[in-house]
Order: sequence, then C-alpha cells, then structure tokens
Amino acid sequence: MSALKLPDVKLQPGTLEFLEKHPKNLFINNEWLAAQSGETFETRNPASGDVLAEVALAGEADVDAAVAAARTAFRGPWSQLAAADRAARLFKLADLIDAHADALAELETLDNGKPLRVARRGDLPYVTKHLRYQAGWADKIEGSTVPVTYPDQFVYTRREPLGVVAGIIPWNFPLLMAIWKLGPALTAGNTLILKPAEQTPLTALYLADLVKEAGFPPGVVNVLPGPGLPTGAALAKHMGIDKLAFTGSTEVGRKIMEAAANSNLKRVSLELGGKSPNVIFADADVNAAIRGAQWAVFSTAGQECVAGTRLFVERAAYEQVVEGLKAQVEKMVVNHGFAEKVHVGPVITEQQMSRIVGYIEEGKKAGAEVVTGGGRVEELGGGYFVQPTVFAYQDDSLSIVTDEIFGPVAAVTAFDDWDELIARANNTIYGLAAGVWTRDIGKAHRYAHAVQAGTVWINGYGMIDPAAPFGGYKQSGFGREMGKEAIELYTQVKTVWVGMQ
Ligand code: NAI
Ligand code: MG
Repeated sequence: MSALKLPDVKLQPGTLEFLEKHPKNLFINNEWLAAQSGETFETRNPASGDVLAEVALAGEADVDAAVAAARTAFRGPWSQLAAADRAARLFKLADLIDAHADALAELETLDNGKPLRVARRGDLPYVTKHLRYQAGWADKIEGSTVPVTYPDQFVYTRREPLGVVAGIIPWNFPLLMAIWKLGPALTAGNTLILKPAEQTPLTALYLADLVKEAGFPPGVVNVLPGPGLPTGAALAKHMGIDKLAFTGSTEVGRKIMEAAANSNLKRVSLELGGKSPNVIFADADVNAAIRGAQWAVFSTAGQECVAGTRLFVERAAYEQVVEGLKAQVEKMVVNHGFAEKVHVGPVITEQQMSRIVGYIEEGKKAGAEVVTGGGRVEELGGGYFVQPTVFAYQDDSLSIVTDEIFGPVAAVTAFDDWDELIARANNTIYGLAAGVWTRDIGKAHRYAHAVQAGTVWINGYGMIDPAAPFGGYKQSGFGREMGKEAIELYTQVKTVWVGMQ
C-alpha cells in the first residue's frame, strides 16, 4: 500500500503484514466478507493524520447477516459446549493475544495514538488478565435452591445466557473494550457481535483472526466495523439482538436506550462519561497526591472515562498543589506514541482536537486562569496534539467544569469545609469515579461514602482490576462490568418449580 506513510520506526513483521495484506472486512461466521453495499471508511493515524486503512462499513443487511450467524451459533454448537470447554477456548484466545501482543500494541498506537509503552505494558497485559479472570467463571455460574412456602414443591434457579449480545465500544481503549464485552458475554454462554469504534477498528479485526484460530465455532464472535450511523444504530434497534452492552458518550447511551425501548426491549448496559472529582486534603502526602492528580488526567491525554478532571484542594494546601502540579505537568513530553520520550500522545481526531481547544478557549473567556498549557501543540505537524492544560477556577458553572472534555484538561479549585466539598463534588450529572487523598482514615471513608460515584480511590487514582466491579452512578450509566457482577450482566435467571407430590 504505497499511500501508507508509517512512522520512522521498525514495526513488527506481524503489524506490517496485517496493515499491508489483511483484508479489512467484516468478520461474520468466521469468514471475511466485504460489506454488501461495498462501502468502506478510512481509519487514520492521529499522530500524523495519515490514512492507515480502508475498512469495510457494515450496513443494515450486514447486521442482519451477523445476527443470523450469531443466533445459529447460539442455538447450535455454542450452547452445546460444556462450560469448561467454553472456558478452554477463552483461555486459548488469551494465550494467542499474549503471543501477538507486540503487533497488537503497535496497531493500537498507530490507530489510537497512545504511547506504545502504554499500549504494550498497560493495555495488552490487562486485556489477557481480564479475559482469563472472566473465563474462570464459566463453569462456576450457579443457580440456587429456593425454600418456598409449599412443602411439596422443589424450586431452583438457573442462570442462563441472554442469547445474542451486541457490544458497541469506543476508541480510547480499543482492544481492552472489545475484551470487556467479549469476555463476560462468551463466558456466560452468549454469542457476540462487536462493533469497534470507527476511529480504531484495527485491533478488533486482528482479534477476529485469533478468535478463529482459538477454535470458536463460526458465528460465536462477529466483528462489524462502521460508524454510529448506520452500523451502531442498526444494532441498537435490531429485533434479533437480546442485549446491547455500550461504552461511550452519555448522549449516544440515551439514543441506545431509546432504540431498545422502541424495538424489542433488549437488555442494555451503559458505561458512559464522567467528570470525576479528585480531592486533596491538606493532611495528605501532598507530593504523592500531586503525582496522582497529574496521572489521573494526563496519562491518556485525558481520554479516559474515569479521568480525575475536577481537582478539589483544601485551601491550606492549594498554593502548594497548584505550583507542584504546574511543575510536574510542564515536565511532560507531548509526542507521537512511538517516540523514545513521550508521556502524552495525540488526541483521537481533528474533530476532538477542535472540541477540546474550543473548551479551552471558553474557559479562558469565562475568566478561568490558565496555570499551564492552553492550546494546540503546533510544531508537531499534522497530528492532533493538545498541550496538557490546567485551569484554576472558582465558578462551578463553567463549561470546563461541567462538561466531559475528554482531552488533556484539568480544572483545580480550592475548598474550605466539608459540606461545601461534598456539595460541589456531587454537583455533576456524572458519577463514574472519585479520588481522595488524606492521611485521616476516617475522613477518607466518610468521603468515599458521601461521594456519588461507582468507584472511589483512597490515596490512589485510576486502578482497575478484573475482579473489582466497575460502573457508573447517575448519568455515567448502569450495570457493573468486571468481577462477579459482570456475569450477572450477561445472564438471566430462570425459576423452575418441581412438583414432588
Ligand atoms: P460516541 O458515544 O459517539 O461513540 C462511542 C461508540 O458509539 C462508537 O462505537 C460509535 O460508533 C457508536 N455510536 C455513535 N452513535 C451511535 C448511535 N446513534 N447508535 C449506536 N451507536 C452509536 O463517542 P465519540 O463521538 O467517539 O466521543 C464523543 C464524546 O463521548 C467524548 O468526547 C467523550 O466525552 C465521550 N466518550 C466517552 C467514553 C467513555 O469511555 N465513557 C469513550 C468515548 C467517548
Ligand atoms: Mg484511527
């Protein structure tokens, strides 16, 4: 592919082979098919703006074909497999992902822009850890016996799969989000149609080959690249899909619920946006808290649903934190993801970059003080780079404080007392995560109980683990992915009555 301009680095042979030779088609029934309409779309490298690949765009007819394949697989070979045999295939898939981790990480960096070190040492190991954790549940999904009031009736429950699940995922952790859906859906005995984000379809396509190699029967996993319209919307309204698991914006989450309500009442789980409060009390290990606050936002260029974008600092420590944060953030290197030295990569698209810069301009106009950063990084050429930016503010109604910016922008403010802090921390439509830094253990727990968020970190920020339930309060969504709760999300309970007369 002569038009393909790649960064000046030596890519793995597997990465090059995939980019140059592999068909970027739809994966249905373990086969690679062009879209029935013949339509394609482009995916770009955010570090340069160059087109990486032309990818088949799944339309309604392709969605119908994938649903039919997933239904046949669900009724047939997949439901006939013993749970331990389902698990065996998932473990095999995890082994294959590990074996292909170098190429997968490089593709993630090319397609999403994130630093290669982050993709290779962060995303990839977590992908397989998650898959193995979930697969371990496959033969441990139990029902219960129920002591009803009728002495001649024996009642028990079974936890059964839902059927055909669709996963619609975002671009910020492309392979990880794919596995967050695939892992529990398949573990619980469902079949899957995965729609990767249109900005980052490549690792999901690579994954499909590994699915086939791992021995999953045709139709168990199908991958349909394409944008929200038409592909995502066709899935959301489809009568043959039993559950839709979504991660993305609150706005689209709302549309998905509407589509489910107006079609077959498919089950919906939503992991949406956030505007998470991170609190530093004056009695904290302030230097650790500053580093924590820095990484809570900037490690993914702010493109993370749990990003700690609202930083509340007790007045006595405020100056120290603002100065410390400024010094730390100014040491961060903004660069393309393959660079030797890089902390902050590009943001995902030109459109996101304009949106982020728009918020920064609004913040300035509204009178928030720019502590550091405050615009694009122009000298990095064609890529979509934004300076890590910190605002100091007082007014909680500014758009930089209320809206999920999804870019490298943090907003820091001082607080004086407990009631003020809790009211302001909870003054948001979101409730995904929260952080608190203090040496007072009682205060830490009081905060953890008072803050409206699905996850709270005390003296830390951003950790996730396959065993720890994860999901939102309020408009950050509902349903818990990970942990045992994820299995509940992908099953339904059947009650069986047995007359013993
Ligand atoms: P988005 O919510 O539009 O995209 C997420 C997924 O939904 C993609 O696969 C997309 O193709 C699909 N989608 C879009 N419209 C759809 C529709 N009508 N029906 C079904 N599926 C549809 O998010 P986008 O535009 O990429 O980013 C916009 C904002 O969303 C970000 O700035 C950020 O605030 C938030 N976001 C939050 C994420 C999170 O992890 N919670 C991830 C990505 C974005
Ligand atoms: Mg891309």
